[in-house]
Amino acid sequence: MNLILLGPPGAGKGTQARMLAESHGLVQLSTGDMLRAAVAAGTEIGIQAKETMERGELVSDDIVIGIISERIDDPDCADGFLLDGFPRTLAQAEALDEILTQKNKKLDAVIEIRVDDEQLVGRIAGRFTCAKCGEGYHDTFRRPERDGICDKCGGSEFSRRKDDNEETVRSRLQAYHAQTVPLIGYYGESGKLKSVDGMLDIESVNRQIEEALAGL
Ligand code: AP5
Ligand code: MG
Ligand code: ZN
Repeated sequence: MNLILLGPPGAGKGTQARMLAESHGLVQLSTGDMLRAAVAAGTEIGIQAKETMERGELVSDDIVIGIISERIDDPDCADGFLLDGFPRTLAQAEALDEILTQKNKKLDAVIEIRVDDEQLVGRIAGRFTCAKCGEGYHDTFRRPERDGICDKCGGSEFSRRKDDNEETVRSRLQAYHAQTVPLIGYYGESGKLKSVDGMLDIESVNRQIEEALAGL
């Protein structure tokens, strides 16, 4: 099964992607995570993307299309993948269609997680992540069972993203509305779009997605 998770910053794409990857044996492909890794490693792509990401704008289509096109060829993607944060522009969506056709793969569903803008700022402001395994947490909505210890790996170091400040969140939201929202119509026409109510708690959102997938 090959899926796309679509939604604004802070909607819960990463949170749901990790749950679905586990329950369905899919590989999570997050362009945001890949770009952050490139920035941390100081690669050519990382150097190009760093400032754009810090401003909360989208990096160039060419960069992310290249990353995804290569990554999809890896053997671990053969049994299914979950795109988290890609595509984000019509050009990326069209390129993805071409890539999948070329590689003889198909898209099964596009899951849109709907959340109001006001809720997103609070979700992003409270987010933190385990530095060792990448598990995501929230100061209010998803605290580790024991304070300061990751539920998944026992790690005790956590990090917060550089672009998770109010000013950058506003430009990320702006980019979403201007450049990514048109994809809802694009995938709606293809009949692959499944929209879920992302305002509910994490488990309820997960249940809605599982129900949508069961109906495929
Ligand atoms: P990216 O990393 O993709 O960031 P984003 O789209 O802004 O989304 P987030 O990761 O912030 O949110 P999420 O939906 O994953 O939410 P999460 O599950 O963490 O992209 C970063 C940057 O990279 C972009 O700005 C751009 O510059 C660049 N980039 C990436 N892809 C690109 C592309 N394709 N093209 C061009 N540029 C690209 O949840 C958020 C918080 O809320 C967590 O703390 C979580 O615990 C909590 N939470 C989750 N669900 C719920 C719930 N239901 N109720 C309560 N709390 C919840
Ligand atoms: Mg994410
Ligand atoms: Zn961990």
